[in-house]
Amino acid sequence: MSECCTEIEAIRRQSGSQLLILGHQYQGPDVLAHVDVIGDSLELARKAAASSAERIVFCGVHFMAESADILTRPDQHVYMPETGAGCPMADMADASAVDRAWSFLRRNGDGWLPVVYVNSTATVKAFCGKNGGSACTSSNAPRVFQWALKQDRKIFFLPDIHLGINSAHDLGIPDEETAIYDYRRPDGGLSAADLHRSRILVWGGFCPIHVNFTVADVQAARSNWPDAKIIVHPEAPKEVVRMADAHGSTSQIITYVRNAAPGSTIVIGTESQLVKRLASEFKDRLSIRMLKGSFCPNMAKTNETNLLRVLRDWPDRNRVRVAQYLAADARLCLERMLSL
Ligand code: 13P
Ligand code: SF4
Repeated sequence: MSECCTEIEAIRRQSGSQLLILGHQYQGPDVLAHVDVIGDSLELARKAAASSAERIVFCGVHFMAESADILTRPDQHVYMPETGAGCPMADMADASAVDRAWSFLRRNGDGWLPVVYVNSTATVKAFCGKNGGSACTSSNAPRVFQWALKQDRKIFFLPDIHLGINSAHDLGIPDEETAIYDYRRPDGGLSAADLHRSRILVWGGFCPIHVNFTVADVQAARSNWPDAKIIVHPEAPKEVVRMADAHGSTSQIITYVRNAAPGSTIVIGTESQLVKRLASEFKDRLSIRMLKGSFCPNMAKTNETNLLRVLRDWPDRNRVRVAQYLAADARLCLERMLSL
């Protein structure tokens, strides 16, 4: 065991239940060796909400640590080993652009309800909470969409174009009833008539990691491993999702692998660190292949060295604090999701 490793473990033992370390499934094995809970973004949000630890260290990306701060008490403090680990998709929904889009929608009817992917800033979550909407993750997006549709509302979904389109399709909503809001164009490049015919409006953001998967990759996998099953994350483009045998969030992909028949081959289209771990964990039972290598460089910013630094020194700059004026509305948005 390295010196760094020994020291982290000693601090964990001394801190007992006052310290909770959470690790997203996309973290590397050296970081995951030191966490109390490994999970996807929904599971980790639930753990943070249920925890009474004084200090929570989030090994993931910034929006996840913000959600933990929003869901915990003011006397619980949330830290990240590297606060520069962001999510480019979350940054594609800038708060002022979202406000402009909302004014445009409201000028054209009042049936809209915002649903925001947890991969979004606290400001966008606060906007959603204030306007009666809910957060969702890739695990529960279709369920949250159903909740909104049952209220006879139209959904304004942000920021992931692909999760939005794929979730609408999962519910049997025809593509013609889903419109795309191009945030780089005035009024999203849409007319009042476009809004009128749409039940779902999806923001044009995307994940640079999952958008890498292509139809050609699926065709190559089918030719390389003709008996394999292919499963992809719903942040992948719709053409890829519709060609695959299955699609699902991080935890749904893990369940699919666990339930696979021994001896089978599974090709996975999601972040590479997770696929590598599953391949090694199940190597005696399954053959697990990558649809294509696609690492999240932001997830990789957390390592044993910066984890130890935060646990030893608790620098203020590593604390993630959501401003008071946003926290109450952002909490409403997350709590609605957790109650569904
Ligand atoms: P999950 O919601 O599946 O954990 O995914 C988070 C994420 O960032 C996917 O790219
Ligand atoms: Fe964001 Fe994509 Fe990285 Fe997930 S994999 S944290 S969506 S950039």
